[in-house]
Amino acid sequence: MSSWYFRYEGFEPDKEKLREALCTLGNGYFATRGAAPGSVANEVHYPGTYRAGLYDRQGTTINDTTVENEDVVNLPNWLWLTLRVDGRPLDADSTEVLEYTQELDLARGVLSRTMRLRDSQGRETSISERRFVSMASRHLAALQVTVTPLDWSGQIEVVSGVDGRVQNTLVERYRELESQHLEHELTEEIDDECVLLVARTLQSRIRIAEAVRTRFYENGDGIEPERTLEQEEDRIAHKALFDVEEGEAYTIEKVLALFTSRDHAISEAVYDARRTLAHADGFDGLLDAHVVAWDHIWERCGIEVEGRDGTARVVRLYTFHLFQTASSHTLDLDVGIPARGWTGEAYRGHIFWDELFIFPTLVYRFPEVTRSLLMYRYRRLDEARVAAKKAGYAGAMFPWQSGSNGEEETQELHLNPKSGRWTRDDSHRQRHINAAIPYNVWQHFQVTNDRDFLDFYGAELILETARFWGSLAEYDRSRGRYEILGVMGPDEFHEAYPDAEEPGLDNNAYTNVMASWVLWRALDVLEILPEQRRHELLEHLSIGREEIDRWREISQKMFVPFHGDGIISQFEGWEELEELDWKRYREEYDDIHRMDRILEAEGDTPDRYKVSKQADALMLFFLFSAEELTEIFERLGYPWDPEAIPEMIDYYLHRTSHGSTLSSVVHSWILSRRNREGSWHFFYRAVESDVSDIQGGTTPEGIHLGAMAGTVDLLLRCYSGLEARGDVLRLNPSLPDEFSCLSFRVQYRNVWMQVKVTSERLEVAALPGWEKSIDIAYGDETESLAPGRTLEFDLKKQPPTAPKDATRN
Ligand code: BGC
Repeated sequence: MSSWYFRYEGFEPDKEKLREALCTLGNGYFATRGAAPGSVANEVHYPGTYRAGLYDRQGTTINDTTVENEDVVNLPNWLWLTLRVDGRPLDADSTEVLEYTQELDLARGVLSRTMRLRDSQGRETSISERRFVSMASRHLAALQVTVTPLDWSGQIEVVSGVDGRVQNTLVERYRELESQHLEHELTEEIDDECVLLVARTLQSRIRIAEAVRTRFYENGDGIEPERTLEQEEDRIAHKALFDVEEGEAYTIEKVLALFTSRDHAISEAVYDARRTLAHADGFDGLLDAHVVAWDHIWERCGIEVEGRDGTARVVRLYTFHLFQTASSHTLDLDVGIPARGWTGEAYRGHIFWDELFIFPTLVYRFPEVTRSLLMYRYRRLDEARVAAKKAGYAGAMFPWQSGSNGEEETQELHLNPKSGRWTRDDSHRQRHINAAIPYNVWQHFQVTNDRDFLDFYGAELILETARFWGSLAEYDRSRGRYEILGVMGPDEFHEAYPDAEEPGLDNNAYTNVMASWVLWRALDVLEILPEQRRHELLEHLSIGREEIDRWREISQKMFVPFHGDGIISQFEGWEELEELDWKRYREEYDDIHRMDRILEAEGDTPDRYKVSKQADALMLFFLFSAEELTEIFERLGYPWDPEAIPEMIDYYLHRTSHGSTLSSVVHSWILSRRNREGSWHFFYRAVESDVSDIQGGTTPEGIHLGAMAGTVDLLLRCYSGLEARGDVLRLNPSLPDEFSCLSFRVQYRNVWMQVKVTSERLEVAALPGWEKSIDIAYGDETESLAPGRTLEFDLKKQPPTAPKDATRN
């Protein structure tokens, strides 16, 4: 199978929701799961359509407490298209399936399904379907269904319209929570071909207009079967009945125009939906433009990898999802990038720190998109300032989970499906999100040198988060160092000390190091801002000399806990926790990824044990190169021996259950230069994580975009050693044995270049463009690269200069 196709053979009801999530089509503005046309939410199917960043907030009472949750809203179902013969449905659920193939064409962004069915009368019919969500026109999508009666003639009934009877019910463990988010405003027949449904979200009061046009063809020629209107308050469709002849092909073509009251460049959602649909081309014309738009994305963002079979295809699928979630249609939408894409309802479409894993794959190809995503944070600075103030801190404290307005959206109660119990959820204490955001701002600046962005927006984000860290850190006299108390690290298994009444842990190493790093960057930002802007910002934010001096001091005197043996402790007191009996749990349970749920169901808690959900302290080796880490620890005044890194990785690796898909990405990365086999094992797990749904049921609820993008990033940055630091773009390739060649395009400071790596050579060719040179470094060599020129390095001659430890460069 070509590595541009993702194909499934056979109809497998129990895999259908997984396929729906993986075959979601989207364009950065909206997305529709790959559900069968005409299917409704049930055990097998879940048609879902989501508009980026469209949320609604509802309350539910559980155990006498009212909890509020904000969800990305499942919108009216435009895929509603049913076929009937003699009153009986003609689809894979209700008839005998003789042949069935579903295929996602990654190059063109088209999902197709072909099947041959035999009904209860023994009549055979072939049905083929194609659909896309236009990458060329953000408000449009199209579906085409062709029916051929193979050995019979008779009548077919088609119903095609928009079904507003939808709720948010995909995720089983959320089903006790309020799932109704829409009220219905209007259904209307626009003309003989088009119908319209208008709904409104209950709390956020966003108006949604979906207008669809249905046309019919016989062997390619338009036909006009008689239609009747099926109109109810919450759904509307045209019903057509027409005669069919054995062996002839009948095509139904449906085009959707979707608008909301939050859109730009509109008069009003309903008005524009009708207008856009009236002007919309037919299926083929729309498809042509859509394919060109995808072509352009692949030209910029394709990664060619030669070697291990199958990897290229999955990496393409993951890249595909990345750009379906964030594309040029995301620009100015005022949305962040959700952990699960817009492919399902798990994590409610919320924005987490996962952006840290996603931004690198975007910033080197679509820097304007990352800028727009950072603006999502910038616009929510005031809310973050309110949160900081309410908690008694200065600056801006961004929420762990963010939705519409930037308030904390982390759920307060969490259902453990293993025990059926609702327990308290303290994961909002993951203050390290306030390091991920400035880290992304800084990376954006390193790659783009976009000074306007830094001046106007980025600097304020860095200074305000630095200020938060500065006020959160407390001085401990006995240590002569600053501490951060009562937080949670990326490892969400640990929420509190064993038997403690209050949640939170002290001196999470990752958090403390990142806080120091943010404070240090804030000092850098103040250095590099032009005098006038620095003055404006300091005055606007009322930052005085004393506060800046305190930042400097904290950045140098932050406490980092170590075990006696030189290993960084995940948090203070970690070494006093009990060892988990891994052998027992492995023997007793088939799947021990979610040790938190297992332990809670046993009446125990992971708080007592040395067991991590995912990389926590080890995140430092993922985010920073060996040189940067040495600088960081030197600045902090801690002895730093890179030779200890492998031991530290082993230490935590043996105590991690990888309950988050992000964990495989991080471990593959940090092992890549010292333990190629181990690294490949995790790379392979990352590749498999969504396509094989390795967490057993989570992917159907929404793909894991952080792990997908992280997998792509392993190819893009980890194996090439790509790093933008200072004013130099560094490359330090080290291909896994499984790959013979890797090539991709990246943009650095307005220069597009083609990078090609084999085990022997590194080639960097700057494409013709703005007349500007950039500096490229490989090992000790730094060379200037002008547009139109190519640099070549002999990898055999000069081996990578990285120490033989585990860090990424
Ligand atoms: C992980 C977090 C992640 C979140 C959303 C959780 O399972 O522990 O690190 O941000 O999923 O992907």
